[in-house]
Amino acid sequence: MSKRIIIAIDGHASTGKSTLARTLAQKLNYVYIDSGAMYRAVTLYAVKNNFDAEQIIDHLDEISISFDVSGQIFLNKENVSDEIRGMHISERVSEFAAIAPIRQKMIQIQQGYGKDKGVVMDGRDIGTAVFPQAELKLFMSASPEIRAQRRFEELKSSQNVSYEEVLQNILERDDKDSSRKTNPLRQAKDAIVIDNSNRSKENLLQYALELVEKTLN
Ligand code: DC
Repeated sequence: MSKRIIIAIDGHASTGKSTLARTLAQKLNYVYIDSGAMYRAVTLYAVKNNFDAEQIIDHLDEISISFDVSGQIFLNKENVSDEIRGMHISERVSEFAAIAPIRQKMIQIQQGYGKDKGVVMDGRDIGTAVFPQAELKLFMSASPEIRAQRRFEELKSSQNVSYEEVLQNILERDDKDSSRKTNPLRQAKDAIVIDNSNRSKENLLQYALELVEKTLN
């Protein structure tokens, strides 16, 4: 079997990380893990149970998170893939993602997925804290306006939300995710930076596949 590697894709909110990670994993026949979905699932559990950032720490043992082969996420065996995308979760997730015991638990699960390599994982701290030894690290950026426009297009049919609200949420999350104490959003020193402001999905995937090819050779 050909060599299998770990691919870490980090970057700011809504830069196209998940789309790239998912399509890359499909092409390579790798496992795809959306680590942001895991923080969103914990946030959903807290919101549903009215736990604040302090209280949730005592309830982490009640939370189990898993993915199926198509990348759907399950919170205590319930498929929450759609529910975690709501603005009520986006507005709270950075608060819960800043809590050290939550991060410890998520990182442990994430590292488990990397044991056999052949994984593409996207998030904020994958190349720095989860898999500092990843063979290929990408760091995605794009202008806030372009990111907000793309996210707004995705959300507008299912949610009552304006472009301005989406932009505001993206900027706030970037700020909180970058300034938290535990494993803040940082570019790994050995990451390849990709500006995704003007690339098509196909062009981006092609470029990433070339980088994988180079890494493998
Ligand atoms: O990728 P996303 O926008 O769905 O992630 C939701 C939030 O989860 C994001 O605002 C920050 C947090 N997150 C994190 O702290 N660490 C990760 N590895 C992934 C996401």
